[in-house]
Amino acid sequence: MPTFKTNDIRIHFTHEGQGEPVMLIHGFPLSVDMWRPQRAALSQRYNVYSIDLRGFGRSDPPTGAMSIDTYADDVVALLNALGIGQAVVGGLSMGGYITMALLRRHPERVKAVMLLDTKMTPDTALGRQGRNEMIVQARTEGPASIAAAMLPKMLTPATVQANPALTEHVRTLMATASVPGLICALEALRERPDSTMTLKNARVPALIVVGSADTLTPAAESGAMQEVMHNAFVIEIPGAAHLSTLEQPSLVDAALLAFLDQHGC
Ligand code: MLT
Repeated sequence: MPTFKTNDIRIHFTHEGQGEPVMLIHGFPLSVDMWRPQRAALSQRYNVYSIDLRGFGRSDPPTGAMSIDTYADDVVALLNALGIGQAVVGGLSMGGYITMALLRRHPERVKAVMLLDTKMTPDTALGRQGRNEMIVQARTEGPASIAAAMLPKMLTPATVQANPALTEHVRTLMATASVPGLICALEALRERPDSTMTLKNARVPALIVVGSADTLTPAAESGAMQEVMHNAFVIEIPGAAHLSTLEQPSLVDAALLAFLDQHGC
């Protein structure tokens, strides 16, 4: 189980394959396991890393407040620890917000971006209120209750009905998050900045992927990102909600590989 230490926090990551480096950043409240199919597919041709953000998967919980920027700095600390100057960065949802923070804070480390089921806009007032309510829920009812609340947004109703094994896998993935990890991430999500100008100023190739039934970060948000970016292409994944990587893995794998082969490297 590879780990490295930054600011006394032990961070777990995965590494598979050989070739040009690709760094994958998971969404909330998930872990490196949400990338399992993509790690297998992409590592046939690329050097694929994924990081467990503080408080998720096998990484230590945060010891103080987090922001989207501090998660991005952890990704840079991992790149430094690995001796990687520049990587293609892929992030889903919260991982996408962190990818945008990398573009803003460390653009020289980013060769191209893959933005999955994410958006550039900050939380609305209603969204911020929802974060506060979820922070209370995490504190009083714990991760299993957050997993139950998130599950219907992660997968389409058709998948939940037809594929109980996948549904349980996703529920378990989310239920393993730590309480401090959940609370710190919800605060960071609530406070995240508008990334419109970041995407407008970015000069790297971008692939935008979105589940056609994603209600958390709907397809219209992907269209808006493409419009402000210089060199972005959108692929809509049929039969997928927010967690497109696990719901339609072969379609997502094919989209990412085609992009990487064309631009990555
Ligand atoms: C995620 O999947 O990372 C979250 O749904 C992001 C969000 O709630 O904004």
